[in-house]
Amino acid sequence: MHIHKFEKIWLTFGIATLVMFLSVVGVSAFYMGNQPPSCNLTIDPEKVDTQEPFDKPGLTKVEGKEWDYQLVYVASAFSYNPMKVQVPLGAKVKVIATTKDVIHGFQVAGTNINMMLEPGYVSEFTTTFDKPGEYLVVCNEYCGTAHHLMQSTIEVTE
Ligand code: CUA
Repeated sequence: MHIHKFEKIWLTFGIATLVMFLSVVGVSAFYMGNQPPSCNLTIDPEKVDTQEPFDKPGLTKVEGKEWDYQLVYVASAFSYNPMKVQVPLGAKVKVIATTKDVIHGFQVAGTNINMMLEPGYVSEFTTTFDKPGEYLVVCNEYCGTAHHLMQSTIEVTE
C-alpha cells in the first residue's frame, strides 16, 4: 500500500501528539496526584449545615497538615457563607466548599482558583495567597435570577 509522504508526516505528527498528551495526563494523574475537583468527597446537600467542616464556615487554623488554614464556604442561592474573610499574607490555605441547592461557581478573580460547586459534592483547592489585596469571589455558573449578585470577598493582609 502506498502512503503519500505528507500523509505519513501527518500520521506521525498525530500519533506523536496523542502519545505526548496521554503522557502529560498520565504523569499529572499518577505521579503528581492531580485530580479533577469534585470527585472524591460526597455530602448530603440537605444536611450541609450540620456536617463538618461546613457547620463552621470561615477560616480556621489547622495543625499537622500540609496547609496552614482551611477556608470553608457554603454556597446557596444567592450568597456565600462567609461573605467576607481575612487571610494572612503568605498563608497556605485549603479552600473547601459545597452548595446546599443548585450548582454554583467559585471563582476568585485574579487567581487560578476556579471551582464548580455541585450539590452532593465537596470541592477543594489548596493555594497560597502571596499577594496582598482584596479578592472578589464570584459565581460563574448561572444559578438563578440573582446570580450576578452572588459574591464574597477574601482580604489578604499582612
Ligand atoms: Cu450562584 Cu450563579
